[in-house]
Amino acid sequence: MTNQSQTPNFYIRDLPIYGDLVLAPMDGYSDWPFRSICRELGSALSYTEFIKAEIILSKSKQPAKRAFFKEEERPLAIQIYGEDPELLLQAALKMQEFNPDVIDLNMGCPAKTIADRGAGVGMMPSPLRIARAFRKLVKHLRVPVTGKIRIGWEKNKNYKLIARIIEEEGGSLVAIHGRTKEQRYAGHADWDVIADVKSLVKIPVIGSGDVKTVADIERMKAHTNADAVMIGRGAISNPWIFSRLDREQVPPELVKETIRKHLARSVEFYGDEDGSRLFRKNAVQYVMMNHLTRDERKEILKARPSAEFLELLERIYDSPMMTEL
Ligand SMILES: Cc1cc2nc3c(=O)[nH]c(=O)nc-3n(C[C@H](O)[C@H](O)[C@H](O)COP(=O)(O)O)c2cc1C
Repeated sequence: MTNQSQTPNFYIRDLPIYGDLVLAPMDGYSDWPFRSICRELGSALSYTEFIKAEIILSKSKQPAKRAFFKEEERPLAIQIYGEDPELLLQAALKMQEFNPDVIDLNMGCPAKTIADRGAGVGMMPSPLRIARAFRKLVKHLRVPVTGKIRIGWEKNKNYKLIARIIEEEGGSLVAIHGRTKEQRYAGHADWDVIADVKSLVKIPVIGSGDVKTVADIERMKAHTNADAVMIGRGAISNPWIFSRLDREQVPPELVKETIRKHLARSVEFYGDEDGSRLFRKNAVQYVMMNHLTRDERKEILKARPSAEFLELLERIYDSPMMTEL
């Protein structure tokens, strides 16, 4: 792996973490192809996309697909969500069979269908339920248990209480996104809350929200003293941020190499048709759509086999407008 220092930056219980940048869990994005790319570029820890407890306990193949990883990607956290502590335990035990390094509980998702039924950030107004979930998970799982939270709800910003509960019930790390449920992904992330949590608990803290540049990384670290910085949307267009490169600093050869690798892994993982179709959303971010002509944009979004798709991307990338960037 690149970018690994000799001494761990911090530990998740007894698991050493080398590095201070972490790819955020992102539904629809942090699948094995993208996670493995980010890991190679320097992300210190991988989180899967969140997986619903009820689906884990059904016959669906989705959880196994979401939990897929290769050994070189470790350390890997499998993220689950649900509202019932007993169901969460059964789901976590089942996901533990995939042999991850960590099981993480999502308490931040603001989607109505999830939060309204008491899962994701819908858990935060129920501290006792969170305490019960962590107590059960910590008692029965072999791997460390961690949690990802938000500030809370506008009328109940109880992140400090929840962070304390996670620690007291044996949780090994807390990641916090500095927005409320109601803010969803809008407005600015409040980094003061990350600093509050860091000064409150002894377990490691990861800060999340609005880190898009290398300068943002250093600003968040200085502002919060967090053990690591989580990067979500900023990494979709610039996974090279994990090597501490801003987008305009990334050599075109590296962009092309990453595109080739990501497309190949997408095809390996999803098959040629689905793999190249799903990769389109990444491709448009990698080549910076706003620099493309209307025709080029249309071309990129058309379905085609991966080999033709790669040829098209290389042609667009080699066009004078792109090489001038
Ligand atoms: C498309 C998308 C999907 C997300 N899915 C998840 C998820 O599955 N689990 C989770 O804990 N957070 C999820 N998040 C939240 C991110 O992990 C992160 O906390 C948030 O985007 C703020 O960081 P950013 O400003 O760097 O994007 C998602 C965010 C986005 C934009």
